[in-house]
Amino acid sequence: MKKLIYLDNAATSFPKPPRVLEAMTRFMTEVGANPGRAGHRLAKEAERIVWHTRESLARLFHIAKPERIVFSLNVTEAINTVLLGVLKAGDHVVTTAMDHNAVLRPLEFMRKKGHVSVDIVPCDRQGFLDLDVLKQCLKKNTALVAVNHASNVCGTLQDIRAIKGIIGEIPLLVDTAQTAGCVPIDVERDGIDFLAFTGHKGLLGPQGTGGVYIREGLSVRPLKRGGTGSVSESLDQPDFLPDALESGTQNNVGIAGLGAGVDYLLERGVADIMKHEQALTAALLKKIRHLPGISVYGPLDATRQTATLSLTFDSILPDGEDQSLGGCGAINLAWMEEGRDPGEIGALLNDSFDILVRAGLHCAPLAHKVLGTFPEGTIRLSMGVFNTLEEVALVAEAIQRIVEGAP
Ligand code: ALA
Repeated sequence: MKKLIYLDNAATSFPKPPRVLEAMTRFMTEVGANPGRAGHRLAKEAERIVWHTRESLARLFHIAKPERIVFSLNVTEAINTVLLGVLKAGDHVVTTAMDHNAVLRPLEFMRKKGHVSVDIVPCDRQGFLDLDVLKQCLKKNTALVAVNHASNVCGTLQDIRAIKGIIGEIPLLVDTAQTAGCVPIDVERDGIDFLAFTGHKGLLGPQGTGGVYIREGLSVRPLKRGGTGSVSESLDQPDFLPDALESGTQNNVGIAGLGAGVDYLLERGVADIMKHEQALTAALLKKIRHLPGISVYGPLDATRQTATLSLTFDSILPDGEDQSLGGCGAINLAWMEEGRDPGEIGALLNDSFDILVRAGLHCAPLAHKVLGTFPEGTIRLSMGVFNTLEEVALVAEAIQRIVEGAP
């Protein structure tokens, strides 16, 4: 059987380090109890495991107080918690055209209700935020700026420190779905006030885990209220973190696995992982970006993006009619003749080559408008820590064969 090549790490990382599975198995077979809900030794062991995950995440993101990290089901829930729990009627919010529907849809819902006003800052053809326009968008009532650290479509990394430098005291929410565990993050150095993360991508934990860091001094109204295992005599929700935002039994087996994933990252070092992923990205870009019939989108620079590339298969134009658009695509899309549908090529890669990719809009429609790939979308190749240069060579070969008319 041909070896399967998994290139869908932007959707969820796979495989996971064996220790993640071991931690989850141990939780289910030897611990099993509900943390913070009883005083017996198994409940205390469960509590220790959950606290350990919080501490490991705090080390990873340079957060002084682990209790400022609140667990959630995923990054979408974490982002909703901040947007719905921070913004008040009449507030103004700024986000970007490269953001994901996890940010855009709740904001659109709140905007349509007349609750908040929203500005969406444009980005250039490589997906970089226009910092001058960001500055012009800020108003007296701007209560939040929400930015994704890296595009899930084409990997473009935004300069978070520069953004914070421009917005000053206005709280900054960073969606790190594509960067946590792949790019070093320091909430102090980077000026991040709310850091929303998912557990099942670069952090190498299981699906159903995520959370948000909330800077001290900032408060968030809970989306849910209920049992927290603390101040049970009161009918009011506790006002301290993490309990204020962690009602009900959490995905504790998932949190145990997440802790093991983060410990793997801490031991190996995120800087080392980034170096490995940059090497994969540079190698894949080198092999495919100049192939006639292919357009690659994004920065096309391994140091300014994550290991996620988006491409389209375009018809080949006569000599002299192709034109670079500042590194975004090899062919001027305005001149493009009939291209091949990303869904069709994605299925070909998946079914005929065992190269697992995602095709389409990737839940980020405005990003495709920025890149010029709306509404067909792109074929996304997203690499992760366990991909290899040998796999990159096989993927490039498969792409070349498709360009040449395979299968
Ligand atoms: N947002 C995830 C992706 O980009 C699921 O595939």
